[in-house]
Amino acid sequence: MQLITTAAVLSALLVHSSTAADDTDFITAAPHAGSATSDLYPPPSTSVDSALFPPEEEVGFPGPTPTGVEPAAIQTAAVYPYNRGPTNQFPLVAPQPHGQSETSDKFDITKYWGNLSPWYSLSSVDYGLPDTSPLAPPGCSVTQVHLLYRHGARYPTSGAAPAQFAEKIANATKKGLQVKDDLAFLADWTYKLGGELLSPFGRSQEFLLGIQHRQLYGHLLNNFTEAGTIPVFRTESQDRMVKTTENFAAGFFGVPEYLDQVSIEILVEAPGVNNSGAPYYVCDNAGIASRGDIGSSVASKFAQNAFNATLARLNSQVSGIEFTPNDVVAMLQLCSYETNALGYSAFCGLFSQEDFLNYEYYYDLAFYYNNGPGSPVSAAQGKGYLQEFVARFTGEYPEAWSALNQTFDNSSTYFPLNQSIYADATHEVVVLDTLTAFNLTALFKGPPLNPKENRKENSFSSSKTVPFATHFTAQVLECSTYQPTKQIRFILNDAVIPVADSYPGCPADPHGLCAFDNVVSVLKDRIDEIDFDHDCFGDYSAEAGVDYNGRAPKKS
Ligand SMILES: *[C@@H]1O[C@H](CO)[C@@H](O)[C@H](O)[C@H]1NC(C)=O
Ligand SMILES: *[C@@H]1O[C@H](CO)[C@@H](O)[C@H](O)[C@H]1NC(C)=O
Ligand SMILES: *[C@@H]1O[C@H](CO)[C@@H](O)[C@H](O)[C@H]1NC(C)=O
Ligand SMILES: *[C@@H]1O[C@H](CO)[C@@H](O)[C@H](O)[C@H]1NC(C)=O
Ligand SMILES: *[C@@H]1O[C@H](CO)[C@@H](O)[C@H](O)[C@H]1NC(C)=O
Ligand SMILES: *[C@@H]1O[C@H](CO)[C@@H](O)[C@H](O)[C@H]1NC(C)=O
Ligand SMILES: *[C@@H]1O[C@H](CO)[C@@H](O)[C@H](O)[C@H]1NC(C)=O
Ligand SMILES: *[C@@H]1O[C@H](CO)[C@@H](O)[C@H](O)[C@H]1NC(C)=O
Repeated sequence: MQLITTAAVLSALLVHSSTAADDTDFITAAPHAGSATSDLYPPPSTSVDSALFPPEEEVGFPGPTPTGVEPAAIQTAAVYPYNRGPTNQFPLVAPQPHGQSETSDKFDITKYWGNLSPWYSLSSVDYGLPDTSPLAPPGCSVTQVHLLYRHGARYPTSGAAPAQFAEKIANATKKGLQVKDDLAFLADWTYKLGGELLSPFGRSQEFLLGIQHRQLYGHLLNNFTEAGTIPVFRTESQDRMVKTTENFAAGFFGVPEYLDQVSIEILVEAPGVNNSGAPYYVCDNAGIASRGDIGSSVASKFAQNAFNATLARLNSQVSGIEFTPNDVVAMLQLCSYETNALGYSAFCGLFSQEDFLNYEYYYDLAFYYNNGPGSPVSAAQGKGYLQEFVARFTGEYPEAWSALNQTFDNSSTYFPLNQSIYADATHEVVVLDTLTAFNLTALFKGPPLNPKENRKENSFSSSKTVPFATHFTAQVLECSTYQPTKQIRFILNDAVIPVADSYPGCPADPHGLCAFDNVVSVLKDRIDEIDFDHDCFGDYSAEAGVDYNGRAPKKS
């Protein structure tokens, strides 16, 4: 009571001074909108219709869900996860690289794990916009937000290298494996990871993302309140995807409110089902080595030579086993996965700073050539989302809805076009496919990545672009200081991405803004030039070292 009185008196005083004083430093307070309690979200008598939006158990197709061993960092971690490290991602423990000092060096190894990195904020300045941030630019207000985000940290996917490595160690142990020095911990190491599922840390990433977005964009819920309706947030059927969206929604709406304040739409991801969030299931060329899967072989070739010094050191500390370059990659992945799932990994300390830089480049190659501009199928795979974004921008279902599930997507129940807030969850490969389809070439500035060595001539970084919980945002704005006043811009993990060099008709702008109608027209041209059938089913051959802008070469 005391506080309320004081605040009321204080604000009365402020309003009084600002209107009474001649001093022009004071700004007259505007009538305050949205403070009446009737404006608060959720609108009365709304609820989720679970017949229209069935839960995970009913939708099915959860994918494999092998559970792991419970984490026990209180016993296994060498360092306690205090929330004050200069380079740690609380509550993960990440040591300095091999050969560097824990006390004086500050190299955050978690920023070099490619798609296994936890996301962190990027700077607009790195993409050529030194004077902006995601905050609404002066004179502008955000009227609509479109979010596409990846699931949080997870266990390895089925068939990944760490489980095979664990089996190799188990086999060698039976035959008298001996270890020493850096590798002494292997004597009683066991494999504790499950598969596919979101880790506890992964849950926190999405929960925090939800909280952050409520803080940033909560005012856009007023549009739903006025319309007397609640939003649809979309995700996919794999267990980690459903849990990702539930954690995001829990952060955004609160627990247990999220259960009744947002309709969560679970799209089936399975072979043959058309789904913008899992396009590889309807794109035959995606898995073909000379077409959509160039990146996997380029990356694995790079790894054969990249870790020689460390491989020699590690092999000198064991007998009864011979490590290969693939084992080194598996151990680096164990560093990432164990840290993300268990909070700590003894594998991390085995690797030098140079190893982590090469590990990141290994992922850079894989993603640039599988899902970036170096891939002939990436734009086709991102076309579904590109079409969906444009549909939401324009409020119109497209005529040629070719790559999508019409029964499910062409309806105002499942694919509404009048929301002020959109949030879709997907996989990292799809986020990157989508960025490529959007022709956001500022993310890939420079010559195609060199397959043999990191020449650092390209702006692309997998750790920055496809980490866990990576998120791509389109802000639609009303700007009184611009002509036309309706503007739009794109943001990736807090960095504003300029479009002046890749969107014809968009002038250079310090805030990365461009006229909304112009951007829509550029994106429609892009949709038209992406030939899904040719890129995904055509007979052609592609190779590493080329920037295809994500599209297949015409017949070989
Ligand atoms: C481990 O040993 C089993 C049985 O000999 C064998 O089938 C399997 O391929 C071995 N695994 C690895 C990764 O070497
Ligand atoms: C969107 O349109 C539908 C159908 O006309 C309507 O029921 C709903 O309230 C609208 N939602 C918003 C947020 O305006
Ligand atoms: C469309 O989605 C529904 C619901 O997930 C699914 O049952 C159906 O098989 C899909 N159709 C196509 C053509 O992908
Ligand atoms: C790494 O070792 C391989 C195999 O011994 C050798 O062919 C290659 O040249 C070495 N690469 C580097 C960069 O030292
Ligand atoms: C699914 O996508 C494929 C590839 O674009 C397309 O040939 C097919 O028409 C689509 N099917 C439906 C029902 O949308
Ligand atoms: C999608 O639905 C709209 C509105 O009902 C309709 O006009 C349009 O023809 C449909 N498009 C397709 C491709 O089915
Ligand atoms: C949301 O409401 C605000 C305030 O009325 C309005 O300016 C904005 O255009 C609305 N957004 C959408 C997507 O309708
Ligand atoms: C995509 O960006 C490139 C420049 O990076 C530009 O030349 C091209 O015209 C753009 N494509 C479209 C469809 O706007």
